Amino acid sequence: MKRREFVKTVATVASAAVIAPKALYSQETGSKIEVLINEPIGPIHKDIYSHFVEHLGGVVYDGIWVGEKSKIPNYNGVRKDLVDNLKKLKPGVIRYPGGCFADQYDWRDGVGARDKRPTRVNFWADTKYKTTKAYEDLPDGPQKYEDNHFGTDEFVSFCRSVGAEPYLAANVRSRDVRVFLEWLEYCNAPANLTTWSAERAKNGYRDPHKVSFWGVGNESWGCGGDFTPEEYATEFRKFTAWLPTYGVPLKLIGSGPNGGDVNWTRKFFEGLAQKGGRQIAKLYGWGLHYYCGSTGQQVANEYTENEWYDLLERANRMETLVEDHWQVMGEFDRERRVKLAVDEWGAWHKQDSDVPPGYLYAYAGTLRDALVSAINLDIFQRHADKIAMANPAQLVNTIHSLFHTYEDKFILTPNYHVFEMYMPHAGATAVRTEFISPKVGFTRLDAQKKEIPVSFWGLGGSASINGKTVTLTAVNPDAKNVRETEINIGGARIASANARVLSSSDIHARNTFANPNGLVPRNEAVTIGAGGRLVYKFAPASVTRLTLQIV
Ligand code: AHR
Repeated sequence: MKRREFVKTVATVASAAVIAPKALYSQETGSKIEVLINEPIGPIHKDIYSHFVEHLGGVVYDGIWVGEKSKIPNYNGVRKDLVDNLKKLKPGVIRYPGGCFADQYDWRDGVGARDKRPTRVNFWADTKYKTTKAYEDLPDGPQKYEDNHFGTDEFVSFCRSVGAEPYLAANVRSRDVRVFLEWLEYCNAPANLTTWSAERAKNGYRDPHKVSFWGVGNESWGCGGDFTPEEYATEFRKFTAWLPTYGVPLKLIGSGPNGGDVNWTRKFFEGLAQKGGRQIAKLYGWGLHYYCGSTGQQVANEYTENEWYDLLERANRMETLVEDHWQVMGEFDRERRVKLAVDEWGAWHKQDSDVPPGYLYAYAGTLRDALVSAINLDIFQRHADKIAMANPAQLVNTIHSLFHTYEDKFILTPNYHVFEMYMPHAGATAVRTEFISPKVGFTRLDAQKKEIPVSFWGLGGSASINGKTVTLTAVNPDAKNVRETEINIGGARIASANARVLSSSDIHARNTFANPNGLVPRNEAVTIGAGGRLVYKFAPASVTRLTLQIV
């Protein structure tokens, strides 16, 4: 790209206007990052690194729950490798039991002696898992018939074992308020004070579970009841009109929009506002679900270079969604008490052909999915003032997962490594950061099947500060080219730096049971030039974390 064109491109970077024009680009490298440590956005909530577990495919049965008598190493029935590795990520909260499953679930089925628990048809039992075959044609198994061996007590114990807070989603579609109130009572009422807390004690849990996070339904615009936003606002008010806290602060999460449906957000908030601001104050988080989908043949590990860019651009749309819903929420919540909870996000490909059919939507993911993770986490960090929670869908063996298992086999997916790399951001203060670089381009078919050119940024990311440590994470989406970049910390000098990089010369790189370390991050030494000058070469197709010590 010629310099004139480049200056034109970077001039379109919206918030770059406050930086002096001559500093917009680097004469020598073409790309530049300005970390503005004196422009804080806000603390990055630790719950941005949260998770989601649904009774779907191989998530719970096999992924998490292997049973106490299993030969697979376990802690009280929960897969040991999963616990040990998840714990390292310091997970925020874990959402359960769905997803769509939640609005068909009766929590009372999942407590008490396991051999006495009822078996039900799973919500997902008649899902088409391949174009030619229905999920309902599967042989009987836990993915189809839910035997309830993993329920509230097992889930809360699992959360506690990894240091996460439980987040339970109440059934709004097919159970009434009473069932929700009794679940609350079972979880939070002091020991032996009520019938349900006595039942809990009888089941081996004398002390309350102290569950703070409660979702009021899931995707109430779709599988969770097919409500209009006005109807859902009424349901929300009804479900939350009078909730006993048992001394546990309740953090209620509303079933928010599907992607860009701002009408759902506006009409819901209008519905609450009708009864006064007190109703809005009840909300802790407003759920947003956005799956960036797949591209091409929609297979996780088969894509062209064009399809690589196409998916990354779709992932990047999360930023607009966050901004759009936040703007509408602000029309009703002037004091900004309600934050966004992006409690389902990720890329969603077809099930891998080599996983058993019952493992609905399971695949091990690739480097492309890792970049999708990094793009999303960077967006959440850049909007740390707006986002109180985010949960990729789902933790293990389904969609955008961090773990892939089959019986005694267990691997970490590329998404896991991104979560590990981004950990230092949790609890640090997000600071405004400008990324200036030439764009990357690709083509996409329009409705008339005509190829149209599309472009997006060639280097993106976020930064945070914690004492004298600046953590800068960045994605170079360019499949082939290194992005040589000058990095400045406004108002400070860089004393030392190191890098951790996830990349590969193969854009399809991934981990498999046969090759579990096919794609893992590597550490790199970084040389600082005279006067603290840092020029870093971001590898092609990479996620990078730079840890910078400043003086
Ligand atoms: O994560 C899979 C499904 O996607 C969830 O059950 C539902 O909420 C969403 O549509």
